[in-house]
Amino acid sequence: MKKSPIEGYGDNLTVFGTRIGDLSPDEHENIEKTRGGFNYKPLENVVVSHVQDSSTLICRKPSNNDVEKYVEEELLDGLCCYSAVNQGQLNKIIVDSVVAHLTVEKLPTVPRSIRHKYMSAFLLAITNFTNMDRVIPKVAGVEAPDLMFKIARRWGYTIKKIKQDQAIIIGATGNFHGRSMTAISLSDDPDSRENFGPFLPGVELVPFNDLNALEEIFIKKGDQIAAFMAEPIQGEAGVIVPDNDYWPKVRELCNQYNILLAMDEVQTGYGRTGVNFAHQLYDIQPDLMGCGKAAGGGILPVSFVAGKDEIIKTLTPGSEGSTFGGYPLASVVAVYAVKSILDQNLAENARIRGAQLMQHYLDLKDEFPDKIKEVRGKGLLTAFEMHNHENLDGHIVSIELLKRGVYAKETHHSTVRIAPALTIEAWQIDNLAEAIRDVISSL
Ligand SMILES: Cc1ncc(COP(=O)(O)O)c(C=O)c1O
Repeated sequence: MKKSPIEGYGDNLTVFGTRIGDLSPDEHENIEKTRGGFNYKPLENVVVSHVQDSSTLICRKPSNNDVEKYVEEELLDGLCCYSAVNQGQLNKIIVDSVVAHLTVEKLPTVPRSIRHKYMSAFLLAITNFTNMDRVIPKVAGVEAPDLMFKIARRWGYTIKKIKQDQAIIIGATGNFHGRSMTAISLSDDPDSRENFGPFLPGVELVPFNDLNALEEIFIKKGDQIAAFMAEPIQGEAGVIVPDNDYWPKVRELCNQYNILLAMDEVQTGYGRTGVNFAHQLYDIQPDLMGCGKAAGGGILPVSFVAGKDEIIKTLTPGSEGSTFGGYPLASVVAVYAVKSILDQNLAENARIRGAQLMQHYLDLKDEFPDKIKEVRGKGLLTAFEMHNHENLDGHIVSIELLKRGVYAKETHHSTVRIAPALTIEAWQIDNLAEAIRDVISSL
């Protein structure tokens, strides 16, 4: 038989003559720089290899010894794939379900034009978990806000009777909804927008956590506004937690002006903030909710929009669809991603471990008031912000944490977000905090 150019698994995976296990961190970097795009700037001199336990990765760093090309070290995962791995790396409940369904249950791959039995499981799991009437499956996280945007416009024209092509969606400044054209049309981050215009019309932004600004635009343009779309807590902006009365009052304003409240819970959902969905912290219910990331348990990209009956029902055949949205494997993973959050009490663990981490942050702020400006968070979505000073650089903190076996990443110049797996244990939180303390004291 002809020899294949692609063979083996793991380190033995050999691709057109290159065995992956033979590559040094430098060689990996070189391949990325010569064959990939430049849309990411990963941390240097470190390559993740495999999983040690639900919160720990094994990474490879350059070896000083010429004979070996790298050394392996443990890395506590303080980022958790931007909250896609809330259930922990290789969560056993989810992995077992995937293996059993692919091998024993002979899981098919079919599109939505023919019914498959796992769609019912998906719909039952997600509507119960989200307490919503209906749900539409998608794939990437960004597709959730994209679809909420579309549905809000549909509802605006067909139910609210906004004049054709006049609908407005309001977003919040500092938001992050992903990198599609819709998401960057809503963004005010110059890096994500430069040279990508023209942008979608019918978008306006108001400052986050500013009720007066929201009410002002509702008064001025309420008849044209279909939805206010925002993250309940802004993640990428540096974990910005609004005032306690913000969301209840936003909910009231939306009711008053017949405007949908569409919440992007792609990063805040699935237990991250100490409750299943961050809007529950404020005791309100959105009209539409977009989820992604941990909806696929860190195993597959799975996203969805869940919402109220009359809003989701505005979609008609041909108006929306996705080949892999809700296909059998995604449906199984989505169901077991929910099971692990519920069976393992992950929201509750996030609340307890989050409080432990927050106490460490407060101690740090007391110890280094000239370095730490603010600490923020709910559950295990946390950040500390340093004072605006040349030496107090979030990127340097990330590099120094890496040297101490912790993976975290700055969100802005002086803010570092820490969002570990919700399975994290007390001693790992203490180690994490000790590494942060060590780095801050060295700056
Ligand atoms: C709130 C929010 N929405 C949407 C997205 C986009 O998700 P993805 O990168 O999976 O497309 C993100 C990603 O960080 C996010 O934080």
